Formats: sequence, C-alpha cells, structure tokens
Amino acid sequence: MNITNDLVTEYICGYYQPLNDQLAELRSMGERDHVPIILKETEQYLNILLALKRPARILEIGTAIGYSAIYFAYKCPQTEIYTIEKDETAFHAARHNIAALGLDERIHSYLGDGQEQVEKLRDIGIKGFDFVFIDAAKSHYRRFLEAALSVCQKDAVIVSDNILQRAMTVSDQYDPQKKHKTNVKKMRDYVDYICRSRELETSLMSTGDGLAVSIFRGEHG
Ligand SMILES: C[S@@+](CC[C@H](N)C(=O)[O-])C[C@H]1O[C@@H](n2cnc3c(N)ncnc32)[C@H](O)[C@@H]1O
Repeated sequence: MNITNDLVTEYICGYYQPLNDQLAELRSMGERDHVPIILKETEQYLNILLALKRPARILEIGTAIGYSAIYFAYKCPQTEIYTIEKDETAFHAARHNIAALGLDERIHSYLGDGQEQVEKLRDIGIKGFDFVFIDAAKSHYRRFLEAALSVCQKDAVIVSDNILQRAMTVSDQYDPQKKHKTNVKKMRDYVDYICRSRELETSLMSTGDGLAVSIFRGEHG
C-alpha cells in the first residue's frame, strides 16, 4: 500500500523534473528492472536538502545500480561520494554505470557490508562526512548509523530512507500476517532511537516511503 493518498503522490510527482537525460534514462532502467531506487518525491526532497547543505563529502550505504550516487554526483558537482553495496551483481552494475558516465573519479564505490566498509574507511582515515544517506537492509539501520556517526563531522545531515516501510512501522494493521515482524520491530526501535538520541536532532516525514532527517550534534561515542 501507498502511505500517502495516491492522488497526492501523483500531484507531487507531476512536478518532478529529472536533473538531466542521463538520470532520466537510469531511472527508467531501474524502474523497468524493478530496482528499488529512490522514489521521485524522495529525490525532490533531497534536491532541497542538498542545495541547503552543500555537502563536501557524502556517504551512502546501499548503492544498488548507482542511481542515487550518480544523482548526488550531478546534483553536487564539487562533492566526493563514497557508496557501499553488499550485493556483487548490483555493485558491478553500479560501477559500470558510474564509469560509463565518467563519474568514477568522484564516486568511490565499495563492495561489502555497510558497517564493515565504513569502519575500514575510518581506519584508513577517510572521515569528515557531512551528509549520509542510509538506504540498505532495513533491519540493520542502527549499526549502519553507529558506523556512519564515527566518520561524520558535527552538523552532518543523516537521511534514513524507508523508515515507514509502507506504513508497517506505524501500525500492525499494515502487516496483518506478521510476515515482516522482525524488520518492523527493528525499524520501530531505530526510529525511537534516532528521535530520542541526544546526539541527533531528528524529524520524521512521510515523503516517499518515509524519511528521517537527522542532524548530528557531534558528540558520538
Ligand atoms: C534500496 S536499494 C538502494 C537504492 C539506491 N540507494 C538508489 O536509490 O539508487 C538497497 C541496496 O542495499 C543493499 N544492501 C543490503 N544489505 C546491505 C548491507 N548490509 N550493506 C550494504 N548494502 C546492502 C542491497 O543489495 C540493495 O542493492
């Protein structure tokens, strides 16, 4: 189910404009192949956040075929992007797409688990991220966040996607067979954690499949 009224979504997405032809083509490809790339309304919201924040270094957990990483690269032409993907096939597809667009100097892609790869980056001194996009396995957001905070600078913006999980996070009535019980519980705990944490200031919104936007107060650990 859609978490917002279909007409509302349609109305908002009616104003969606791809940044360029390359992204439009990649979005069509992703949608055709059922790759869960960021929704149009999520991209619209990220447009504003990125324009306001103007990040120098973006960390992304969950690359898939590289759509959002490539979007970040076009939206923020001065920014270095580090993106991590666990699935080998998706990782190679992303690498191919990034290289084909000549963006491989600025988009650094890594194969492996989000937390482990972030810790490796930290160990080799790559930190100071000021924008983080968490968009991978939904039941692992807490450990992705912990790792990400260890490489973030003060006032970094952290965007967690799909926090509403088609409204299942909000109410059990949207998961009547309890098929997603564990994931739902973990996401509820995650949302509760980021909303209560004193090191973060968080706002929740129903854009797309639900976004949490947090600002890191800079006192992790
Ligand atoms: C929703 S997709 C990412 C979409 C991408 N951000 C975009 O908008 O173009 C989630 C991706 O996270 C990957 N993933 C799942 N578990 C992961 C993990 N532990 N570490 C890194 N990536 C993971 C999946 O293989 C999948 O490709």
